[in-house]
Formats: sequence, structure tokens, C-alpha cells
Amino acid sequence: MLTNRQGHPVYDNQNQRTVGARGPATLENYQFLEKISHFDRERIPERVVHARGTTAYGYFEAYGTFGDEPISRFTRAKLFQEAGKRTEVAVRFSTVIGGRDSAETARDPRGFAVKFYTEDGNWDLVGNNLAVFFIRDAIKFPDVIHALKPDPVTFRQEPNRIFDFMSQTPECMHMLVNLFSPRGIPADYRHMQGFGVNTYKWVNQQGDTVLVKYHWMPKQGVRSMTEADAAVIQGQELGHATKDLRDAIERGEYPEWELLVQMMSDEEHPELDFDPLDDTKVWPENEFPARPVGRMVLDKAVGNNFAENEQISFGTGVLVDGLDFSEDKMLVGRTFSYSDTQRYRVGPNYLQLPVNQAKNAEIRTNQRDGQMTYFVDSAGESPHINYEPSLLGGLREAEYPTVDEEGPVISGRLTRKRIPRTNDYAQAGQRYLLMEQWERDDLVNNFVALFKQCERRVAERMVWHLLLVEDELGLRVGEGLGITPDDVSGLEPLASQDLTDEDRDRLAKLG
Ligand code: HEM
Repeated sequence: MLTNRQGHPVYDNQNQRTVGARGPATLENYQFLEKISHFDRERIPERVVHARGTTAYGYFEAYGTFGDEPISRFTRAKLFQEAGKRTEVAVRFSTVIGGRDSAETARDPRGFAVKFYTEDGNWDLVGNNLAVFFIRDAIKFPDVIHALKPDPVTFRQEPNRIFDFMSQTPECMHMLVNLFSPRGIPADYRHMQGFGVNTYKWVNQQGDTVLVKYHWMPKQGVRSMTEADAAVIQGQELGHATKDLRDAIERGEYPEWELLVQMMSDEEHPELDFDPLDDTKVWPENEFPARPVGRMVLDKAVGNNFAENEQISFGTGVLVDGLDFSEDKMLVGRTFSYSDTQRYRVGPNYLQLPVNQAKNAEIRTNQRDGQMTYFVDSAGESPHINYEPSLLGGLREAEYPTVDEEGPVISGRLTRKRIPRTNDYAQAGQRYLLMEQWERDDLVNNFVALFKQCERRVAERMVWHLLLVEDELGLRVGEGLGITPDDVSGLEPLASQDLTDEDRDRLAKLG
């Protein structure tokens, strides 16, 4: 039986209460007012990025090992310890730039955010389908997103704005070489990889730390689309990837990913030509092999899109014992940003919602009140004591899980400086050289088509960067635009960049 929110039966859901059959309506019409005013408030702000997405549930199953060794040597995180141990997960896949109802065929990074509901509380691994990112300092995030979002005047995504920003941001070249290759349009969510991108740490029982990077590999294989493939799908269906995931789960074809981890000692590693905390870089797999630590299966779609997909909230600060942050400057900024936006977007009690609750841990805080408080954490026998410390009762601090918490020794002057080993081009060039011919062709075509829509000075600077990335790439893109190395040889390096010896050699060749 239909009721209103007060539990009163609804006898007529078709007609308002009016004076006579032809109106006017009366203001005491509670049932109508409740219905329409709730409707007026149905939308919450969409995510500022990653607005379009879909969520599914499943489990993570640990292998208990890292290579030939028990994983406990490196991390004490409970979810990883025993082979076969299962932890419930919720996973949200997303596109980044478009709004909540935009096309899922967009050339755009894809979000790959996993919430593990562990017995020690929740762990969120908030990743993307591409292994690197555009920038390495969180202070630039609003700028890169503004450049990628629609023009504030025309509301069109404008190549001229995008590549204006990118041409002044050399650290983004590695990301661009990935994003404008076929990998920039995954065929759907089941056939894409996931990467934690930022560098995290593992902590073992002794308090020793190592640096780690996370990778999800789909058992279904990796499939991507060209612009032409995407145009055909987009003509028929805006939400093909969401549909594909739901349909597969409904058919019982549960998608599966393996979680692999790369590890290095927790140091600066001066022997490397990049900084291990730089998220515009990958760690070469021949030196830092990616080892499987578990698998994840998704076997249930959401029952309600708003409650479970729109309101689900992930954050890089959501870690469990045995996992830690690194000093990565992006990661620190992200960790502030996620819960900050969620307190605004969903509300200050967003963690009380079923999809966000740490449902497999016991939650006992002294946090109280605020909009939409749904429950008060159990204070056990002391409902009066919502503070700590107390002689009278209430909650007590937990004991540290280890004898000693030995964080790294960090020293240095307060400063605003870019990291020393920026090396913006080498890995972008290696990535290009690893591509198959059709991927290289697609990348070149995509760049040419977009740079043609840019002002000449923007296109020239982009060609200059691409010549430093890899001769062939720069020459081919330049050729498509009628820009020769000679045309750009007079451009000075940007004040915001440092060149390596190899970059200087390439630059010298331009003239
Ligand atoms: C979502 C900020 C970099 C992956 C978001 C949201 C914000 C944000 C504000 C919306 C969250 C919400 O409304 O719930 C930032 C900042 C970054 C950054 C400030 C850089 C400093 C990254 C990077 C990755 C990433 C490097 C990939 C590793 C995601 C994903 C989501 C997201 C997957 C969607 C989560 C979901 O499905 O709800 N980010 N982000 N972000 N971000 Fe970032």
C-alpha cells in the first residue's frame, strides 16, 4: 500500500485536494506538498569530476603471498594475509570530465575506485585506468580540470583551451601519449585495467615500510576503441559501459581482475632517472616486477543508482592498518579533497549511509549531530559520555597495533619547488615506441585533428614537446599540421621545466 513518509495511506495519487473538481488547490494538502517538495530536492550536486559512473559489488580474495614470500613480511594489513580470505568490495567505474548523463564513449580517463569493507574498517583504492596522471602537484588540479571541462562561455570542450594548458605543462606528456592513443577510450569497464597511480606504503608488524604501486588486470583482457568505433556506439547508446557491466553480471558472467603490486624500498632512489613519488611515471616492470596478491570478482549490480552509485564516496585517506600514504604531493592533496567535497556533495554524515559505512568493523566515535544524523554510535553503557578522556566511562583510545610506530625521518626547508628529477619526456617516448603501429597511427591522427582546432602558437608548442618525446611522433604530428622542426627550433624551454641531457640533445637537433 502506498503511503507518504509519515506513514499515512495515500488514497488518491492522481488528484490533488482542490476546492471543487476544477481547483483551486488548498495549501494544507500535506500529501501533495510532501511529494512535490521532496521531488524538488531530488538532485544533489554531481561529483565535480567523475560524475558519470556505475557501481557493482563483489569480493576480493587474497593469495597470502608476495612472490615466493608470505605477504606478512611486507604488510600486516589483515585482508591480504591468508590465502582464500575474502573481503566484500564495492567498485565504482566512471568517466572524468562529462556530467552525470554524458556519453561513456568519451576520450577520457576512466575511474576505477574500490572500497574494501574490511574487519579493520574501510580501505578505498581510488585509481584510474591509465597508469599515470597529468600533473604531479595537487595545487594544479583545479587548473587541469578547468582546461579539460567545457569552456565557461561556449560550454564546448575546446581543444584550444586543453592544449593551451597542456603545452605549458610538460609533465603531462606521458599522460597525453596514453590518453590520445586507443587506451583513452576503453571498450567498456570490464575490459580495462586499473592503477592506483599514486605511490603508497605497506607497513609490516615490525613497523618497516616499503613503497608500493597497485595495478588491476582484467581477466577478460584489455580492449580499446578508436574514435570511429566510439562514434558508432555513441550514435546508439550513451551508457554502453554501464549497460555492459550490468548485463554481464545478470548473465552470471562475473568480471574478474587480479591485483598486482610493485614494490621498492622506502627511499628516494637517486639511482633512478625519476622520483618514485612522481605520479607521471611508471616503475619499470623489469626492475620492479608486478606480483599478484589477490583477485576481485564483481557479482552484484546496484539495486538503486542514487543510494549506491551517486552517494558512494571514496577517498585516498581511507586506509587500514598495514597500509599507509607516501609523501607524494598529489596524494596528500587528494586526501584532503575527497572527504572535503563529500561533506559538501553528500553531507556531513555521508559516512552513515549504508554504502559508505564501515560495515564489517565496529564503529564507535564521539562525533555527534549534524544534518541527516541517522544514528548515534553506540556508547555502550555510557550514553552520557560523548567525550574522551573520562573517569566516568565512555570510549577509550585503541592500543597501537605495534610496539613502535616508526615513520620516516623527513627534514627540509619549507619551500615551493618542483621535484628534482622531473624527466618529463623519456617515459612518454618509451610508451610511444611500445605501441603497435595502429595505435601509433591513431595517436597521431587524434593529435593532428585536435591541434588543427588550436591557435598556431599552441599547436607549435605541442609539436615542440612531442619532438622531445620521440622524433617520429613529433615529426608525424608536425607533418599533419604543416609545422616543421625548423619552425619550432626557436622556442625556448619553459621556465617551469628542467631538461635532461637527452632532452638537450634532441633540442639541439631541431635547428
Ligand atoms: C573523484 C579530486 C587526482 C581518481 C574525485 C573527486 C574529487 C577529486 C574532488 C570527486 C569525489 C566525490 O565527489 O566523491 C582529485 C584531486 C586530485 C585527483 C584534487 C589531484 C590532486 C586523481 C588521480 C586519480 C583520481 C591521480 C587516479 C588515480 C579519482 C576517481 C574518482 C575521483 C576514480 C571517482 C570516485 C568515485 O567513483 O566516486 N577526485 N582527484 N583522482 N578521482 Fe580524483
